Amino acid sequence: MKLLIAPSVLSANFLRLEDDIKLINDSKADLFHLDIMDGHFVPNITFGFGIVKQIKKIAKKPLDVHLMIEKPDRYIDEFKKSGADYLSVHYETCPHLHRTIYTIKESGMKAGVVINPHNPVELLSDIVNDADYFLLMSVNPGFGGQSFIKQTINRIEKLSNIISANNSKALIEVDGGVGLNNAKQLADAGANILVAGNSIFSAENPIETIALLKDVK
Ligand code: DX5
Ligand code: ZN
Repeated sequence: MKLLIAPSVLSANFLRLEDDIKLINDSKADLFHLDIMDGHFVPNITFGFGIVKQIKKIAKKPLDVHLMIEKPDRYIDEFKKSGADYLSVHYETCPHLHRTIYTIKESGMKAGVVINPHNPVELLSDIVNDADYFLLMSVNPGFGGQSFIKQTINRIEKLSNIISANNSKALIEVDGGVGLNNAKQLADAGANILVAGNSIFSAENPIETIALLKDVK
């Protein structure tokens, strides 16, 4: 399967958000990655439904919403109404994760489960045929522009083996410190979706950077 690229809007210029959304529309990107942070699960606060709804009005590609919030179950409906197409929750925030996955799917979105860098990928073994995708954090969540944690490569390989051993169709997404310097290695290890914020929006030519990321494999 072709590698999917999901630019992280967190690194866009919010003073001219419309221009940056249109830039992603015009690029080879596949998804919009939207980071929702609550100041509790992670030390940072970003944006909520209002901004997601506005982006949805002009986005020509699906919205991949990454919830870094406590008690995400409370907000599944509202994110669906706001226009999310993919919705991921952190393993660490869901005591009834299996139920949460099916609530997301039943509301018509793709369901994703995210784990932080310290959590073993084996935690995902028993839900490997339930979630549509798994997001491996390759930085500690909370901020854009951090350095990639190299151990992630082994983690992708391990998860990829678990997925194939169980005949699962789940995709592997990687988020944090991703750029042209490591994209090929990530794709070779088994990543299907690459999230990239800083490496795209701080590039001289974001559209070309997205095209280069898309073509690494
Ligand atoms: C971090 C977020 C990421 C972030 C990635 O908590 O989940 O999506 O925007 O940004 P970069 O690509 O700059 O590391
Ligand atoms: Zn993210």
